[in-house]
Amino acid sequence: MDSIVVRGNGPLSGQIPIAGAKNACLALMPATLLSDEPLTLTNAPRLSDIRTMTELLASLGAEVTALQDGKVLATSCHGEINPVADYDIVRKMRASNLVLGPLLARLGHAVVSLPGGCAIGARPMDIHVDALSALGAEIELKDGYLHAEAKGGLKGAVHEMRFASVGATENFLMAASLAKGTSVLKNAAREPEIVDLAKCLRAMGAQIEGDGTSEIVIEGVDRLHGATHPVVADRIELGTYMLAPAICGGEVECLGGRIDLIESFCEKLDAAGVSVEQTHTGVKVSRKNGRIHAVDVVTEPFPGFPTDLQAQMMALLCTAEGTSVLEEKIFENRFMHAPELMRMGANIEVHGGHATVHGVEKLKGAPVMATDLRASVSLILAGLAAEGETVVSRVYHLDRGYERVEEKLKGVGAHIERVKAS
Ligand code: EPU
Repeated sequence: MDSIVVRGNGPLSGQIPIAGAKNACLALMPATLLSDEPLTLTNAPRLSDIRTMTELLASLGAEVTALQDGKVLATSCHGEINPVADYDIVRKMRASNLVLGPLLARLGHAVVSLPGGCAIGARPMDIHVDALSALGAEIELKDGYLHAEAKGGLKGAVHEMRFASVGATENFLMAASLAKGTSVLKNAAREPEIVDLAKCLRAMGAQIEGDGTSEIVIEGVDRLHGATHPVVADRIELGTYMLAPAICGGEVECLGGRIDLIESFCEKLDAAGVSVEQTHTGVKVSRKNGRIHAVDVVTEPFPGFPTDLQAQMMALLCTAEGTSVLEEKIFENRFMHAPELMRMGANIEVHGGHATVHGVEKLKGAPVMATDLRASVSLILAGLAAEGETVVSRVYHLDRGYERVEEKLKGVGAHIERVKAS
């Protein structure tokens, strides 16, 4: 397995290009199952999770061709469709559950393996099941698979989710687009990735209003057609790279980044002593002056502080002046980076959903490993702030969600290398 070696850094300077959003692309790709005409996604990120979704869609009968070095995905689903999403692929990536809504809508039935839990939490599927059942699907669990059937097709309905789940909102949107009649989803998730999916579905002929608010109205249509859609910029990759100059000093511009997609995060950076500016080409970030100040953070659904930036923010706060409290309200087990940061000299106490970070003067390099994507990148950021060398192992987690992380950071002057497994 590859590892990444980081050495404590001085100020960074230059530009980092921000890719298309992993989590938007993973929801957009299954939309190809809704139409027999081609769907082309431009600005796609080149990540292992995208390759896993490609493999899953191919197993269902769709064709996905990566063009322009993987930045354009030409997808098509005009032949026979296999309704079974197999455990062997689904277990690799939870976002595989996003084929459930489209398969049901197109075929009237689907058999999708339960993804199982993952390192950050149990992550059940009840909200997806309730939302699709409201549209008339009968869903039962047999042998680890959800068997879903909508005899006579899906029918529009009013449904309120018990929690604003991102994935369940996406499944509902795709399913309701081809249902008969009007659907209203209340307490819908408002994440920018949902707005991006709705935009793409509209380009395919769907009638959707209210995306980006907590009430989405969908007027079902008989069929969807082909479209070309650019994947929205990755706000989590943006936030991650914004933290690099916050940690090391200097000034970095994240090209293609949009502050309006991570305002709550930018407010916390401002309070911590980091200056953030939207330019015509991206987002410019530098430290205001002196040391970073402690800030308290609570993760919440959009527009709140994103859980996907909590680990990276913790890396910044490890060397802040004062004590910060981070509260994780989305996932029950998302502090696994804390013990690894402590190996680097951080002073952190974790109690249930709260982590108290007492800022220390300096971190020290150490061998570390992490069990999920955002935790891994937080260790790289911490390594940039540490004295000496940090070796981050289990880099395959990083490759799921960050395209060429070492090249992008090296481009702004970071001391970082990938060591290939022999
Ligand atoms: N939940 C349930 N039942 C459900 C669905 C969700 O209890 O049926 C719970 C989950 O266990 C979790 C919470 O609700 O505690 C939020 O889950 P949600 O469904 O909103 O998340 P998701 O759709 O599974 C997406 C992102 C995650 C991101 C979350 C929250 C994708 C592919 N994944 O997951 O991204 O953390 O929304 O914003 O879009 C990451 O990129 O590192 C990542 C984990």
